Formats: sequence, structure tokens, C-alpha cells
Amino acid sequence: MTKSTEVFNPQEFSDMKGILARYDEPASAILPLLHYVQGVYGHLSEEALTFVAEFIGVPHVRTFEVATYYTLLFTEPVGRHLVQVCRNLSCHVNGSEDILQALKSKLDIDVGATTSDGTFTLVEVECIGACDHAPAIMVDGDLHRSVTVDSVGMILDSYREKT
Ligand code: FES
Repeated sequence: MTKSTEVFNPQEFSDMKGILARYDEPASAILPLLHYVQGVYGHLSEEALTFVAEFIGVPHVRTFEVATYYTLLFTEPVGRHLVQVCRNLSCHVNGSEDILQALKSKLDIDVGATTSDGTFTLVEVECIGACDHAPAIMVDGDLHRSVTVDSVGMILDSYREKT
């Protein structure tokens, strides 16, 4: 079994035990634990996924399946700011492809890539719950509604200034 100290410091391990204690069934803690680990390390390393699987007593493959299923979980490092572009119907018919092209052009990266300075990662996602103000994008946890090609640069600049 992977030792917690090989992967997490004592405070992190304590936090994880606290999360686990909230659930009657250890396997039910899989998403909160993965979310916690990603919050601390920015992504889910192979070692972390292996440890979480052993920690809650599920096969290793289970944490890998969950981590690769959800678009908000990352098994590789991502940029400091995550730009998610909705590609579902409302956004699509309201110009999300133009927004995506503008973002790709401004960031000089393709979908799934991270800028060379590590500032932005660009991904496409399914509906983010702002269909009535499509096209919508989400940067980190912030929802941007009724985005236009002209507003893309301003949105990116507001995050460039943040650490
Ligand atoms: S379709 Fe884009 S937010 Fe719902």
C-alpha cells in the first residue's frame, strides 16, 4: 500500500480523513477526495489516484475512471486559469465556435492545450447552465455570459492580471 506520507503531508492527510468521515460508505467519498486533491495540487497525479483508491478501498482503476470521466478533473497539470467553452446546442447556435476560434487565436493554443507561460488552459465542455445567455464560457469558477468575439480579449486580460 502507498504510504500517505509519500504523497500527502500530515495536514492534507488529516483533511482527507475528515472528508472520508462524512460518508458511511468510503467509496462515496471518491469525488470529494479527488476534488480536494486537485484543489491542493492542481491536478491528479498517478500517485495521488493510486493512494486515494487504496485509501477508500476501491480498485485502482476506479479512481482513474472517475478522474478521466469528468471534464473538471485533470490527470495532467493545467494552467493557472482554466478557460472552458460551452459547445452545447444553445451556445453552438449563438456563436460558440466563433468564441472558441477567438480564444484559440488570442491564446495561440488549440483546445486541450496550455499556453507556454502556463497561464491558461483551454477546454471545451458541455452545458454550463447559462443557456439563456449563450454563448457562455467559464474561467476558473467564474461564469461569463453572452460572450462576444470582441469581449474575449478583455476577459482574458482580467485573468492575466490575477496570480
Ligand atoms: S448550452 Fe451553453 S450554457 Fe447551456
